[in-house]
Amino acid sequence: MTDLSVELCGLRLKNPTMLASGVLDETGRSMLEIARAGAGAIVTKSVGREPRVGHPNPSVVELDVGLLNAMGLPNPGIELYANEVREARKGGVPIIGSVFGGTEEEIAVLAGQIVKAGAEAVELNLSCPHAKGYGAELGSVPGRVEACCRLAKKETRAPVFAKLTPNTSSIADLARAAERGGADGIVAINTLKGMAISPEARMPILGNKFGGLSGPAIKPVGVRCVYEIYEAVKIPIIGVGGVSSGRDAAEYIMAGARAVQIGTAVWAQGTGVFRKVCKELSQLMDELGYGDVSGMVGVAHAGRH
Ligand code: DHB
Repeated sequence: MTDLSVELCGLRLKNPTMLASGVLDETGRSMLEIARAGAGAIVTKSVGREPRVGHPNPSVVELDVGLLNAMGLPNPGIELYANEVREARKGGVPIIGSVFGGTEEEIAVLAGQIVKAGAEAVELNLSCPHAKGYGAELGSVPGRVEACCRLAKKETRAPVFAKLTPNTSSIADLARAAERGGADGIVAINTLKGMAISPEARMPILGNKFGGLSGPAIKPVGVRCVYEIYEAVKIPIIGVGGVSSGRDAAEYIMAGARAVQIGTAVWAQGTGVFRKVCKELSQLMDELGYGDVSGMVGVAHAGRH
């Protein structure tokens, strides 16, 4: 029997799958459903200081290879969302609170607040590809990534994970900056900045014109990023981008991830995807002779067998 449980910065996960931020995580009730569906942990929707309505519609485009979305970080603000986090905790799996902000200080304060609301760890969204003044605008500058992590670590003793953008010349540089700032782990990757145009309408489909691409198309980019980050830092990595099968999870783990997040596949396949990925991963580990997940982490790197 394979053991799928993993330990991540003091968090105990019964399996290495997590709900990625942004899918079915707006309310405590929907997060409870994800917990019941077997996820090892849940990342909340990204929450900011004030309520935000987000970008104008259309905010999602369905493509053959995944999803393109520009929601624009809609959220009720930390004060109201705290109730959803409290509710989600009843699911009995670790809740990782995702926060975004316009400045390093704002992000750090939110990190402290979401832990007070009940999150066991924090994910700093330093990587939304299209919200003016937020996310990747701040998260593409190594010095700012470092400062966000350093300030967040002053606000909370809970583990702090930095979610990084692939829309940069060196994601490894960003990961090194996060590690220098004291981050406990790296989450890679956020969506790739993209665009879709309607030939009939002769205009971009998304209300915001640009959006974040997720799903199967971005898996090779995510796996490459995790591989590069694994060679650059010592802190644990959580892989995300296009995971919908046990083989996908194994690719990320062999590249260096200790856990994987699933987002677009929950939207495409439903909440059964968590048990499906775990079952397939367990079978594959059996076939390949791995008794536990930690023995498989990073094995694709030369000289680490
Ligand atoms: C949004 C945020 C993200 O971090 C992302 O990758 C895609 C979309 C958003 O809220 O628009």
